[in-house]
Amino acid sequence: MTCIAVLALLLVLTSMESETRELTSSELDALNNFIETTVACNSIPGLSVALVRNDMTVLARGYGFDDIEGNRKSTADSAFCIGSLTKAFTSTVIADVLSRHGRVTWDTPIYDILGATFRLSDDLLTRETTLRDLLAHKVGTPSYFHALLVGFDANMTRADLVKKLQYMPAVAPFRTQFHYSNFMYMLAGHVIETLAGETWEDLVTKRLLSKLGMRSTGFVDASDGIENVSTPYVLKNGTLVPVDKRLLLTVSPSGPAGSIYSTANDMTKWMIFHLNKGRTKHEYTPIVHPDWLETTYESQMTHPFEAKDLTRPLYPVSDASVSYNMGWVSSLYRGYRKLWHSGGIVTFSSQLWLYPDMRSGVFVASNGPLTSKGSTAIRNIAYFASDLLLGEEPWLNTSTTCSFPAPWKELQHQSLAIEIPRYKWNITRKMADYTGVYGHKGFGHIEIVVLDRNSLILRYGRFGKMKIFPQDEQVFYGYYVDELWFLTNADGRTDYMDIRFELTDGKVTALKLHIDLDSDQPNMTVFLKGGEYDSKALSKRNGINTSYSCCSGKNEHTKSSLFIYICIFAIILISRT
Ligand SMILES: *[C@@H]1O[C@H](CO)[C@@H](O)[C@H](O)[C@H]1NC(C)=O
Ligand SMILES: *[C@@H]1O[C@H](CO)[C@@H](O)[C@H](O)[C@H]1NC(C)=O
Ligand SMILES: *[C@@H]1O[C@H](CO)[C@@H](O)[C@H](O)[C@H]1NC(C)=O
Ligand SMILES: *[C@@H]1O[C@H](CO)[C@@H](O)[C@H](O)[C@H]1NC(C)=O
Ligand SMILES: *[C@@H]1O[C@H](CO)[C@@H](O)[C@H](O)[C@H]1NC(C)=O
Ligand SMILES: *[C@@H]1O[C@H](CO)[C@@H](O)[C@H](O)[C@H]1NC(C)=O
Ligand SMILES: *[C@@H]1O[C@H](CO)[C@@H](O)[C@H](O)[C@H]1NC(C)=O
Repeated sequence: MTCIAVLALLLVLTSMESETRELTSSELDALNNFIETTVACNSIPGLSVALVRNDMTVLARGYGFDDIEGNRKSTADSAFCIGSLTKAFTSTVIADVLSRHGRVTWDTPIYDILGATFRLSDDLLTRETTLRDLLAHKVGTPSYFHALLVGFDANMTRADLVKKLQYMPAVAPFRTQFHYSNFMYMLAGHVIETLAGETWEDLVTKRLLSKLGMRSTGFVDASDGIENVSTPYVLKNGTLVPVDKRLLLTVSPSGPAGSIYSTANDMTKWMIFHLNKGRTKHEYTPIVHPDWLETTYESQMTHPFEAKDLTRPLYPVSDASVSYNMGWVSSLYRGYRKLWHSGGIVTFSSQLWLYPDMRSGVFVASNGPLTSKGSTAIRNIAYFASDLLLGEEPWLNTSTTCSFPAPWKELQHQSLAIEIPRYKWNITRKMADYTGVYGHKGFGHIEIVVLDRNSLILRYGRFGKMKIFPQDEQVFYGYYVDELWFLTNADGRTDYMDIRFELTDGKVTALKLHIDLDSDQPNMTVFLKGGEYDSKALSKRNGINTSYSCCSGKNEHTKSSLFIYICIFAIILISRT
């Protein structure tokens, strides 16, 4: 018996041994050289890279700086925010809770768990939405990303935000279209908290991080979080400028969609755990039941990412997305099955790519600089590393990683940060006509005030502050100032926000702006002056004109560049290659 066991073990060891192909030293040199070149030519402040293969760490390293002013170099233990890579932690911990629960499944209506007070924007969604719908972005509610960017009140709980979801209308019929929603991941976190009787943070810590030994991984909105992570940077007129770390708190209370930070060393454990279908490298007994985990890797929604696919004949290789799963996307890269996600929060950007059939994985994360070129660079590093792990000839080199997407496709010109124009009040209506508080039942309050040097300021959420310039009585252009300045005036994102005021009988009665920045929906969201706009009840009674077709040429331009930003926090890509 013992003898057979030893023999079996030996067989396992030898077969693993023969499969293990760590990179040769010349491959590692080529990889290091590729990464260093990519970091330099794309103005990446700091970078964290981890590669695994057959349960082994092939590489875990830092490049550049965690903090430029403090001269702190990035290492394999530097903490970077991983944004939406958090979503796989949420789906994994839910798989664990469900596997032990026995009664609730992926397809149990969450109404049955949350009870009769729970509401989404219509009765069908309220009654039928399941965890599978939330985790696969099938509900039809768009991202409403602007509300997340500016941040909810510090004291808002997940339960509070869940109550507001009923005022965030869906834009597509249930289960018909992919609409990426961080708020639905927040809701999934709330559901599992209700079911398990513990916070999502405690569940992730106890059931995943502790068991996997991920000791330097945490939540950016928990105590110490802000101090522990590296400094986020943005490019302004070619120079890396730090941005306020407190902006990372805008993720709260939507933590289950994006609050985790981690290190290269810790992420090797996370990748090996998934490549082993729920086991650590040392233990045979799975930490999470493999069958439940497997469902999170399976196709749940048709693939929505054509825009970022690489395909022949334009590119020499193909990387074609197939489906969204639960916290994971499936693609075929050069014919290999790839499970991946990208992440972005404030100016942090990350990619995690797993090749389950090759037992290989890559993690890359940076603390900036929030340009489409910088985000493409993170992917280029993942491509080059993937090719080495897969034993394929790399299709990128130190020259094309800097020119990308050239020579295959023309590089889009990136605008530099501009001087915000001098403030000018060139309309006859008085500033005081606009000042006041404008409300929306789902998205909170916007305040219009007169501030320094007599300009009109729009305040929204925890950090939003825009200087708004009149074009005529109704149309204003907004530039973010203070903490969020880089949203409208950093390199590659020099676009104002469109703001409209509604006049009824000569009086200002409402304000409109785009809360949903990413979808193709032209509608702006209405905030009612001195009240709270309720899309269900109030629109008709107050005679507010909610139909607004925005898309003159200039507005299109504004939207598409904001699209790029939202996708950073989200999954998707960043350069629309
Ligand atoms: C939350 O904080 C805001 C101010 O930031 C305050 O107006 C509000 O009353 C607080 N709400 C609760 C429930 O404490
Ligand atoms: C964050 O930093 C504090 C203080 O340095 C440390 O005690 C804590 O362990 C760190 N947290 C993580 C998750 O690394
Ligand atoms: C890099 O790749 C491009 C395109 O495949 C090729 O034209 C170029 O010669 C290569 N450069 C180097 C230095 O290998
Ligand atoms: C950008 O930097 C250049 C010099 O590097 C300077 O001449 C120019 O004024 C700067 N532009 C802005 C808008 O700061
Ligand atoms: C006011 O000035 C802006 C430029 O800041 C200009 O685009 C707009 O047409 C002007 N409006 C009027 C009514 O003069
Ligand atoms: C956009 O506004 C129009 C007109 O009010 C309305 O019919 C339509 O349903 C709205 N679309 C969405 C997605 O809210
Ligand atoms: C509402 O606004 C749209 C677009 O600006 C306009 O075409 C329409 O006539 C307006 N409807 C009413 C009732 O004012």
